[in-house]
Amino acid sequence: MAAPRNSTAASDAPTAKPAAEAAKPWSGRFSEPVSDLVKRFTASVSFDQRLAEFDIDGSIGHARMLQAVGIISAQDLVDIENGLAQIRGEIRSGVFSWSLDLEDVHLNIEKRLTDLVGDAGKRLHTARSRNDQVATDIRLYLRAAIDHIIAQIRALQSALLDLAEAHTDTVMPGFTHLQVAQPVSFAHHLLAYYEMLARDGQRYADCRKRVNRLPLGAAALAGTSYPIDRQLVAKMLQFDGVAENSLDAVSDRDFAIEFCACASLTMTHLSRFSEELILWMSPRFGFIDIADRFCTGSSIMPQKKNPDVAELVRGKTGRVNGHLVALLTLMKGQPLAYNKDNQEDKEPLFDAIDTVSQSLAVFTDMVPGITVNRDAMRAAAAQGFATATDLADYLVRKGLPFRAAHEAVAQAVRFCEARRCDLADLKLPELQQFSRLISEDVYAALTLDGALHARSHIGGTAPARVKSAIAKARKALK
Ligand code: ARG
Repeated sequence: MAAPRNSTAASDAPTAKPAAEAAKPWSGRFSEPVSDLVKRFTASVSFDQRLAEFDIDGSIGHARMLQAVGIISAQDLVDIENGLAQIRGEIRSGVFSWSLDLEDVHLNIEKRLTDLVGDAGKRLHTARSRNDQVATDIRLYLRAAIDHIIAQIRALQSALLDLAEAHTDTVMPGFTHLQVAQPVSFAHHLLAYYEMLARDGQRYADCRKRVNRLPLGAAALAGTSYPIDRQLVAKMLQFDGVAENSLDAVSDRDFAIEFCACASLTMTHLSRFSEELILWMSPRFGFIDIADRFCTGSSIMPQKKNPDVAELVRGKTGRVNGHLVALLTLMKGQPLAYNKDNQEDKEPLFDAIDTVSQSLAVFTDMVPGITVNRDAMRAAAAQGFATATDLADYLVRKGLPFRAAHEAVAQAVRFCEARRCDLADLKLPELQQFSRLISEDVYAALTLDGALHARSHIGGTAPARVKSAIAKARKALK
């Protein structure tokens, strides 16, 4: 192995600088320190500390590669690894002292490392820039977040299946335009959310492929003149490969935008579910109750029990959508390569991760706390002429063209409306006024359960079909 290039060079950092200024590793070029206002304005340490452990992981990968190709010595690597291990411990136990003077997470850790291990710490930044370093840190952080969110989605899906299992025969009105349309089972309704979440999970998994590319080696923007081994770093840090262009590697944040788009869709799905829970829990519907631990009361109206969790998730959708737009706008029109603008990627991304993750967690807790009022659901389905389509289909089976059947049933519905009754309440001669083709067997088609059982094709609401959909879903979750 080649002799480490700079392992023996004496450290000859300028000593003439005033102490405060010397703190900034880049201050050598400047004749005065930044003002306090600018220091506070440009620092990111208050929010990018969250990247700390990933910054350390990235540094270990980088240092091991530097040693492997002979840029630093084996002893330097030992010192760097020991120093970083100690820093990790200090950060975990909360004793690490973060300094605003050191701007960001990267410089804070590097400074502490240098304090701990001296020159070896100063060699760590060889063949690296904060530009490829931060891009690597975010990707590592986001990759872990995606894996967590995918697991959370599966947990929620499985909670939905548990609830659905108990309700394959529970009839409720299915709605279009929020008007009673046709009967469905509550299980079938829940499985619609299972499907949305399944697609969400696939989207995160797909996004992860583009997140999981290594920027390190791009250095500031053009790459580095050192004989680095990017593939080795990628392997050590479990990236699927390296970012192929150095300018692109340090500058684009499309992977974060893509994640926010995935997060927006998850929140959109949860907001739809939230809206339904809120409606269903309203006494006007009375379809469900949500366990007290997920609801709050009113300080003035003693009777109130409010579905706050669902409302908050619905509301938080707005901030995640906002973060998506914030990141798109941040990236728009940025010239190559890295610009400080990109420091603004973190807070929206972190908040999108937190919000979607908390929302999934709280929903997964809440779903088993839903109790169902089967009678109220059934009564609502029985009131809205939910089997009108089934009567039309019945007439079609007897030979009437569908449009004519539709018209005959429309007349029957008007007749019932005037009498304030349901189609199933009409006597046979009354029904026969609308078509001579109707006979005694019509009642099997007019019942809610008959309507449910009739839809037994793939994707239909028949109890047997929904049971097999649940079984299939359970398999997919394994
Ligand atoms: N804190 C910076 C960020 O989040 C790190 C990269 C700094 N690079 C630079 N050239 N100033 O983007």
